[in-house]
Amino acid sequence: MRLAVLSDVHSNNVAFSACIEDISKSFIDGICLLGDYISDCPNPQATIDLIKGLKKDYKTWIVKGNREQYLINHDNGIDDGWTYCSYKGSLLYTYENLRQEDLDFLRSLPISCSVNIEGTDPLLLVHGSQRNIKELLYEDTQNTREYMDLTQENYILCGHTHRQTYYEYNGKVLINPGSVGVAIGKVATAHYCIIEWIEDRWQVEYRGISYDIDKFRRMFHNSSLMEKGGLWPKCIIKSVEEGINWGPLCSKRAYDYAIEEGFEADYKNIPDRYWEKAARDLGII
Ligand SMILES: [Fe+2]
Repeated sequence: MRLAVLSDVHSNNVAFSACIEDISKSFIDGICLLGDYISDCPNPQATIDLIKGLKKDYKTWIVKGNREQYLINHDNGIDDGWTYCSYKGSLLYTYENLRQEDLDFLRSLPISCSVNIEGTDPLLLVHGSQRNIKELLYEDTQNTREYMDLTQENYILCGHTHRQTYYEYNGKVLINPGSVGVAIGKVATAHYCIIEWIEDRWQVEYRGISYDIDKFRRMFHNSSLMEKGGLWPKCIIKSVEEGINWGPLCSKRAYDYAIEEGFEADYKNIPDRYWEKAARDLGII
């Protein structure tokens, strides 16, 4: 039994397509998808089409991530103040480009899922965790150990941190396949993993798939996301070019500048002039 495990595509359809091609040659019995499929890169509707294609071709288990939850909340009319700015412009662009059927699909996804395949140990699938869709399960941290003590399943597959992780604790195993779309580490490489049931345990093979960075850049420059997303899409391009997650770094620096200048800010309302200053400092623009 061999399963492909993918997370955090973030609408990088070039990277996602490269993974799907690799999977097609890898004798896979099923696919686990761990959330954050959309936002950050252009054309989210094409990402949903790729997922639906996988559903037709393979047995799939799919959970939602925090990005999907944001879009569902927005569609439910929760007032989140989205405008075309660096902090939320990418989400607003994503919302405007999704079709109603895409939103219905996202709404249908569970926050967690238990995979029970005869002859294997059950797997728990989450994006962050069941108790917090944005929980960061890094290896060897207290919250991770606490969470691992709570789960019934001995194997937990999670995403969200964008870090490929294998962590054993108290007889349980935490596996994070890394990020398909905004991977940390190698330049223009899509991360995912294959797990295989061998000799009474799930064994993991981490993969890094190279893809066409020029095609990735063109995808942005042919899209209105470049105008609507403020500095955020520029952070994403540089992240993929360098294998460093620049978005949170730029956001943090913009926040620090805003506070320094006495602006009463929280992360959600930092004016773009602070983002620009931060992006210049960090070499993003
Ligand atoms: Fe996430």
